[in-house]
Amino acid sequence: RRWELAAHGKLEMGKVVGVVVLDGWGEAAPDPFNCIHVAGVPTLDSLKKGAPERWRLIKAHGAAVGLPTDDDMGNSEVGHNALGAGQIYAQGAKLVDMALASGKIYEGEGFKYIQQSFENGTLHLIGLLSDGGVHSRIDQLQLLLKGASEHGAKRIRVHILTDGRDVLDGSSVKFVEMLENDLAKLKDKGVDARIASGGGRMYVTMDRYENDWQVVKRGWDAQVLGEAPHKFQNALEAVKKLREDKKARDQYLPPFVIVDGKGRPIGPIMDGDAVVTFNFRADRMVMLAKALEYEKFDKFDRVRFPKIRYAGMLQYDGELKLPSHFLVAPPEIERTCGEYLAHNGIRTYACSETVKFGHVTFFWNGNRSGYFNQNLEKYEEIPSDIGIPFNEQPKMKAVEIAEKARDAILSRKFDQVRVNIANGDMVGHTGDIEATIIGCNAADEAVKIILDAIDQIGGIFVVTADHGNAEDMVKRDKSGKPLRDKDGNVQPLTSHTLNPVPIAIGGPGLHPGVRFRSDLPSAGLANVAATVMNLHGFEAPDHYEPPLIEVVDK
Ligand code: 3PG
Ligand code: CO
Repeated sequence: RRWELAAHGKLEMGKVVGVVVLDGWGEAAPDPFNCIHVAGVPTLDSLKKGAPERWRLIKAHGAAVGLPTDDDMGNSEVGHNALGAGQIYAQGAKLVDMALASGKIYEGEGFKYIQQSFENGTLHLIGLLSDGGVHSRIDQLQLLLKGASEHGAKRIRVHILTDGRDVLDGSSVKFVEMLENDLAKLKDKGVDARIASGGGRMYVTMDRYENDWQVVKRGWDAQVLGEAPHKFQNALEAVKKLREDKKARDQYLPPFVIVDGKGRPIGPIMDGDAVVTFNFRADRMVMLAKALEYEKFDKFDRVRFPKIRYAGMLQYDGELKLPSHFLVAPPEIERTCGEYLAHNGIRTYACSETVKFGHVTFFWNGNRSGYFNQNLEKYEEIPSDIGIPFNEQPKMKAVEIAEKARDAILSRKFDQVRVNIANGDMVGHTGDIEATIIGCNAADEAVKIILDAIDQIGGIFVVTADHGNAEDMVKRDKSGKPLRDKDGNVQPLTSHTLNPVPIAIGGPGLHPGVRFRSDLPSAGLANVAATVMNLHGFEAPDHYEPPLIEVVDK
């Protein structure tokens, strides 16, 4: 296939296109737990008035973004993959499901590699323990435990990360019980299988985009060195006890290790062991992968660097080829719109703050780090404030990101200016409703700054989102009513949602005859890339999902 894109014919080249991705910003009916609605978002509301020709909803969950079923909520990885690739790929969750179901996972290079350690070493499994389906799934872990033991693992240690972010807070107890139950069954079969350490995902191990290496270090100390401030004799007791501290919610539990009767850790990672990180999603596992794999490493003092056989569930970074061994081949996301546009001379600027920076770069580009063409692209990261939970800084860096985008637009040095505004998602994940409302206001303000700049230079804008979050912040019953406990309290929903997301187009540079087509009612995020290509004046390639727009004579 050629890289050169055909001219659109009706839409001019050379317009500046601003692409705004609101993270965690779905569409739901007005409701007291719809933080976007409660916040009042004048800029976004004004865009909505353009419906149906210039504003519509698109799917952001389930099969539309390559997830196993339509019960799977959207997430930023698959969302940005779809937005940037213009095609729907079977995603990690599904690929792992298929490899486990067919048993192919045990025939691959990755499994054969770690299997060499089963005779004399321990198999360690490290990952997120929940059924959230965003980074990992407990049913996949359960199958892997069973399969690994059937394929020769005799001693297994699981290092858990509690969730409460993609699933309800407090559910960690249930998941630990499920896992303990499975491990007990393995024990009956003569496999020495135990939980060896743990901690909350946001405080232990699962940092991303090198925001805070101390998070990974805390996990390393527990998982590899067998050291942590809290010691327990079993994991269920650990999670229950640690949760007694009101502030210690599942996602923020401190690190703990499981010790024997003499106080010795039962499962530090030693020379000769095998290690699998069982998350399929890359962003929050790749830092640990570096620590486990790289001989040369200076991000924190590892104290001990065990000689292990390490495999990821997937390869997390296709560019870095990291980890070098993996159980399941990742989706081969190819011919993304970023790569096409770079081949066609489009100058791109992308920006977000650290915690979402890789979303508009790495995920957007099909899980590929780096530039396609250094001379045409500039990616700018605004450092996130670390150590302060986002409900205590709900405005995050929204305005700073918008100002960078504004400057990039006004500079006329770029044809596409792309940002991710994180508030709806990052504050939404804390479950703090008041704070999320403030976050939504800040995001709206940021969009206004960008749209004003687009106005000033006669450009075009595309405002959309990657999945829902802030528009629904409460756990509901089947009929949609908020669930209340006996004291009348609701349970905050920290996770993403199944809701569709808005997309709006406009700006003085937009051809007056452009409108959303009416023949694509079930379009999703993957239709956005072709749309953006059109707005740059190009026809999209045939293998892309069709553009959302058409041009009528006006
Ligand atoms: C996270 O990693 O923070 C959540 O599990 C998913 O959020 P994201 O998909 O919006 O990044
Ligand atoms: Co999120």
